[in-house]
Amino acid sequence: MLMDPKLTGYLRRALNHEMAAVQQYLTQSTLCELWGMEEMADKFMRESREELEHARRLIRHMLALGLLPNCTQLPAISATHSLKEMWLADWQLEADIIHLYAEASRYCARVGDETAYRLFDELLQEERQHLEWVEAGLAALEEKESRGG
Ligand SMILES: [Fe+2]
Ligand SMILES: [Fe+2]
Repeated sequence: MLMDPKLTGYLRRALNHEMAAVQQYLTQSTLCELWGMEEMADKFMRESREELEHARRLIRHMLALGLLPNCTQLPAISATHSLKEMWLADWQLEADIIHLYAEASRYCARVGDETAYRLFDELLQEERQHLEWVEAGLAALEEKESRGG
């Protein structure tokens, strides 16, 4: 089978993004731990593991195509100094990957690559759930702030 350079590009960008997400949630989990926010530390750690699982699924697809799953452009992590800044950074992270998976799944549907389409579409649905989780976290925090807590 001939390698599709556009598909290869989507897979590489997606892997970079998932590894960046692992790094971001792991850092946030550790920061929360340092700030004595155990419950949030656990939540961010669970999220980090889910992103790692996404990376694993991308790597499996890349290996099946004979591609080496190298991350060469891991984006920088954004510096955050509060839980609110974390949620906002996470919102951007999830919105960006949703945009990428929507584009990648549309492309795969168009060229008739059903296996890659299924992979990107499943990841798209899961990232949409992540975004909802982030939005709920942000809303709960804003409500708490408005009550003065
Ligand atoms: Fe992910
Ligand atoms: Fe995510």
